Amino acid sequence: MSFTSRLLCVIIVLNVLFLTWSDPNISKADSHKFLYIMDPYVVHITNAEIDNLMVHCKSNDDDLGDKNLILDESFEWHFRQNFLFTTEFFCTFRSVTPYIDRVIKSTFVTVFDTYISAILCSQEDPGNCYWSVRDDGFYVSKDNKTFPDGWIQRGKW
Ligand SMILES: *[C@@H]1O[C@H](CO)[C@@H](O)[C@H](O)[C@H]1NC(C)=O
Ligand SMILES: *[C@@H]1O[C@H](CO)[C@@H](O)[C@H](O)[C@H]1NC(C)=O
Repeated sequence: MSFTSRLLCVIIVLNVLFLTWSDPNISKADSHKFLYIMDPYVVHITNAEIDNLMVHCKSNDDDLGDKNLILDESFEWHFRQNFLFTTEFFCTFRSVTPYIDRVIKSTFVTVFDTYISAILCSQEDPGNCYWSVRDDGFYVSKDNKTFPDGWIQRGKW
């Protein structure tokens, strides 16, 4: 490599590191990968209708752990897509009885992938993907309007 191209590489790497470190909301496991410089997203998951919902979401790099959502409760996480736009998040949803955690129904849904980010999430900065977990399945929306306005079903129990 010539001196100029080496210098260029160093500048690019420093720039990428700066961009990555300067965003406080990049999820922990993603922040050590300086290739995560692409569009930021926020995925929101709301328990709209389930008495007692357990949610466990992960990507290939990130495990968000078990979340217990009571009715009307939400959680969200921030991340950036990887360099190849192949970031995917999957969640296992379990409707459980309170206290003794007997599983009533359980399923697995892809909540973020290339298609969802391009078509079903908002294209702002950050892009928002709202999920509503309901008795008859899983709905996604760009803008969290009052159900069912703008909500698209994507996944069933
Ligand atoms: C980062 O997250 C905090 C707390 O969740 C929030 O108040 C803040 O606006 C976020 N910043 C950005 C740049 O998204
Ligand atoms: C979506 O909108 C509903 C109704 O206004 C609100 O209760 C809920 O907190 C919102 N969800 C998120 C994730 O912002």
